Amino acid sequence: MGTDLSSSTFAVTGSMGKLATFALSFLFVLVLSSLIPSTEAYDSLDPNGNITIKWDIMQWTPDGYVAVVTIFNFQQYRHIQAPGWILGWTWAKKEVIWSMVGAQTTEQGDCSRFKGNTPHCCKKDPTVVDLLPGTPYNQQIANCCKGGVINSWVQDPANAASSFQVSVGAAGTTNKTVRVPKNFTLRAPGPGYTCGIAKIVKPTKFVTQDGRRTTQALMTWNVTCTYSQFLAQKTPTCCVSLSSFYNDTIVNCPTCTCGCQNNATQPGSCVEGDSPYLASVINGPGKNSFTPLVQCTSHMCPVRVHWHVKLNYKEYWRVKIAITNFNYRMNYTQWNLVIQHPNLDNLTQLFSFNYKSLTPYGGINDTAMLWGVKYYNDFLMEAGPYGNVQSELLFRKDPSTFTFEKGWAFPRRVYFNGDNCVMPPPDSYPWLPNAATRLTSTMMMALFAALAWLLIYV
Ligand SMILES: *[C@@H]1O[C@H](CO)[C@@H](O)[C@H](O)[C@H]1NC(C)=O
Ligand SMILES: *[C@@H]1O[C@H](CO)[C@@H](O)[C@H](O)[C@H]1NC(C)=O
Ligand SMILES: *[C@@H]1O[C@H](CO)[C@@H](O)[C@H](O)[C@H]1NC(C)=O
Ligand SMILES: *[C@@H]1O[C@H](CO)[C@@H](O)[C@H](O)[C@H]1NC(C)=O
Ligand SMILES: *[C@@H]1O[C@H](CO)[C@@H](O)[C@H](O)[C@H]1NC(C)=O
Ligand SMILES: *[C@@H]1O[C@H](CO)[C@@H](O)[C@H](O)[C@H]1NC(C)=O
Ligand SMILES: *[C@@H]1O[C@H](CO)[C@@H](O)[C@H](O)[C@H]1NC(C)=O
Ligand SMILES: *[C@@H]1O[C@H](CO)[C@@H](O)[C@H](O)[C@H]1NC(C)=O
Ligand SMILES: *[C@@H]1O[C@H](CO)[C@@H](O)[C@H](O)[C@H]1NC(C)=O
Repeated sequence: MGTDLSSSTFAVTGSMGKLATFALSFLFVLVLSSLIPSTEAYDSLDPNGNITIKWDIMQWTPDGYVAVVTIFNFQQYRHIQAPGWILGWTWAKKEVIWSMVGAQTTEQGDCSRFKGNTPHCCKKDPTVVDLLPGTPYNQQIANCCKGGVINSWVQDPANAASSFQVSVGAAGTTNKTVRVPKNFTLRAPGPGYTCGIAKIVKPTKFVTQDGRRTTQALMTWNVTCTYSQFLAQKTPTCCVSLSSFYNDTIVNCPTCTCGCQNNATQPGSCVEGDSPYLASVINGPGKNSFTPLVQCTSHMCPVRVHWHVKLNYKEYWRVKIAITNFNYRMNYTQWNLVIQHPNLDNLTQLFSFNYKSLTPYGGINDTAMLWGVKYYNDFLMEAGPYGNVQSELLFRKDPSTFTFEKGWAFPRRVYFNGDNCVMPPPDSYPWLPNAATRLTSTMMMALFAALAWLLIYV
């Protein structure tokens, strides 16, 4: 009896222990999940960002249809750069592609069942790429032939779409018999996008050029693809370093942010900037592979963004931003930066970059997108002496929030080309010297200013 009791008490405490363990692990998971970057395709700075692929059937043919396919980049700051988008799908039945205008499939596949006219592509799962600029006019349609490059919605809405025309055979010939393709895939040009299923939507209406007549597609379907940095690559590609005028500490990117230098097992993991073999390594094997070949640094990131708190005026303060490319195999065209800082709603002046405020939730205006000026600094050259761009930002101090203390002057988040840049840990930020040293440094500065004034004007 006694043993029974004690064992049941034991069982109770045991289950309570289990409960506690469960609660604890639940808490642990909660805390962890708030720390780990979200694995789902959701970007809090661009909550509605997506790429929509729209198929407009323009004409039924004896054995199928002609459709115009348009890829719209509805992402505020993520663009598709060279070598461009790669679109794939799986036909629902035995469809073939008779011809294409403004794009091509990468493989024709097995068309042996056709006599006479052979289709452009007979594969069950065609892979389509854009044509290159300079394609003859008779092989073009509007918005095609840009080598698969699509700009972001904010940066250049006029170039945020790409189109091609496809003639499909062995397909349905009415809106009741046609079958929508399945399993859409989009690489841009690497992985990262997940596409949903094609949904039949209201037919698109087109307005004629003079605006006096509208026509409409015979049938339209849409596919939406969303991006996830987690799917794109598991290692970061960008990091942030910090410095300030009030402390000589330069806080470098965290060591091994994007990888570690490993001379023993992987001697080719990076190249020294002053290596005499630099040119031969860059042009060596892997030249066209688009895998980064980075300059040796402690962080090994292809891109570094440096934020320097430069000057403190009475009513304003000034920041210098420099972006450095450490990748010998990549010129970033039309690069962009997204920055979150509470003082961005009082950004007064920005030198030599373009700027647009992003207000993901309508209210808080603390996030902005910056990008280069066309033909001036929108091209971030491969690693080397020209592999950097820079700008200065002038902020008006909001007295209720402004402070140099506790790292307030540093950005909260930085994205380069839509990918999160790793920040140094907050406790390593350059500190404001304590009050006594601050006084002496102010006095020193005043003294220097007086000296300089004397030197210049006396
Ligand atoms: C895709 O983006 C557009 C433009 O922001 C938006 O109107 C549309 O609702 C989005 N689609 C989905 C499925 O989120
Ligand atoms: C198919 O076309 C008919 C008219 O030809 C139209 O009434 C019907 O709504 C269309 N169905 C779809 C799914 O587009
Ligand atoms: C679509 O892709 C899924 C997973 O990759 C696969 O299981 C399925 O068979 C594919 N569907 C078609 C029609 O190919
Ligand atoms: C389909 O895509 C087009 C172009 O992106 C868009 O204008 C339209 O609203 C979309 N329709 C639906 C129902 O999402
Ligand atoms: C790798 O080699 C470089 C010079 O070639 C050297 O500076 C660096 O310390 C080495 N790293 C390791 C981890 O051995
Ligand atoms: C980058 O651009 C420069 C100048 O146009 C060119 O010489 C170089 O080959 C390009 N590098 C890559 C990796 O495309
Ligand atoms: C956000 O801040 C910018 C720069 O100060 C300003 O031009 C813009 O009007 C602001 N937008 C909103 C919605 O407050
Ligand atoms: C900074 O911007 C906010 C919001 O736009 C505004 O309420 C505030 O007055 C501005 N501060 C200064 C000093 O201009
Ligand atoms: C500068 O900041 C570092 C922290 O990054 C701190 O250790 C150091 O004491 C600061 N220097 C001065 C002069 O306050």
